[in-house]
Amino acid sequence: MSITDFPRHQLTFGPSPVHPLERLTQHLGGAQVWAKREDCNSGLAFGGNKTRKLEYLVPDAVAQGATHLVSIGGVQSNHTRQVAAVAARLGLQAVLVQESWVDWPDAVNDRVGNILLSRIMGADVRLVDAGFGIGFKDSWERALQSVRDEGGTPYAIPAGASDHRLGGLGFANWAYEVTEQERELGVFFDTIVVCSVTGSTHAGMIAGFAALEDAGGRPRRVIGIDASAKIDETRAQVEKIARRTAELIGVQRPLRDDEITVLEGWAGDYYGIPVESTLDAVRLSGRLEGMIIDPVYEGKSMAGLVDLVTRGDIGKDSTVLYAHLGGQPAVNAYSALFRS
Ligand SMILES: Cc1ncc(COP(=O)(O)O)c(C=O)c1O
Repeated sequence: MSITDFPRHQLTFGPSPVHPLERLTQHLGGAQVWAKREDCNSGLAFGGNKTRKLEYLVPDAVAQGATHLVSIGGVQSNHTRQVAAVAARLGLQAVLVQESWVDWPDAVNDRVGNILLSRIMGADVRLVDAGFGIGFKDSWERALQSVRDEGGTPYAIPAGASDHRLGGLGFANWAYEVTEQERELGVFFDTIVVCSVTGSTHAGMIAGFAALEDAGGRPRRVIGIDASAKIDETRAQVEKIARRTAELIGVQRPLRDDEITVLEGWAGDYYGIPVESTLDAVRLSGRLEGMIIDPVYEGKSMAGLVDLVTRGDIGKDSTVLYAHLGGQPAVNAYSALFRS
């Protein structure tokens, strides 16, 4: 099997844009920094990384005769918002279990941003009082059962569409897309920086680049930056999904340990709570590039990139690709942070 053997339901506009971040590069004074923009990869409710992952889950859902897409995330989950958009596009119902993953005092946290968009798109949004966790949950099982009880056929999509047999394929395909864009642009990204929480974005990239390397491609580093503040869980999840996806797309060897790099140091103490370096990174991208990133995910991975480039851990002669995975709708729930 290879990546092209899996059915894909296109939800993206096409290859996501790749462009240099010239002012950020100049400011950091080290490696050349570029971005690949999943935040504008589709016309479905502002897109994002889950839209790509769902391209490989949709054919499976359709084949199973699904009437409802049932998924789970935090109140400001980007993932559940993208599930709502995909369900709308396919003419299916979305049932979204929204847990209290973040203890965040903003008064409109459960009314604006992602959850607002999901409601606009007609999703059945169910608020549940449970904390952060990327595993399987009772509340999700109950949601699945409630659809069956009504005579529907639920299709189960775990948090972040990650712990799913096909969850890594979207970003394995991303690796192929990058290689094609490199050819067109005449550039080679020796280092990729990506935010990691539920794991299948980073894991898919690892698997895709491993397959490409085995087919004669140049090796490169894919650096995951943990944003969950639970580094051991994130690492274990990335490793599990990377190995599963590599096997699925026909990588004929075990992945090497040095292919799986998840770094800690920028998540702060809690998932969803920004720290100073997060807010500095959000402001820096906004002020230098007009590129909006969020305080939950991309603010943390950008903080990692800034430090790695500034400290020279990513060398001056490197060309880095920052994977912008979306997430901007959540900024509305963090408005108090930017008032002064
Ligand atoms: C904007 C954004 N960035 C990064 C991530 C992390 O991706 P993953 O969950 O696949 O590790 C997510 C989702 O969790 C996200 O919504």
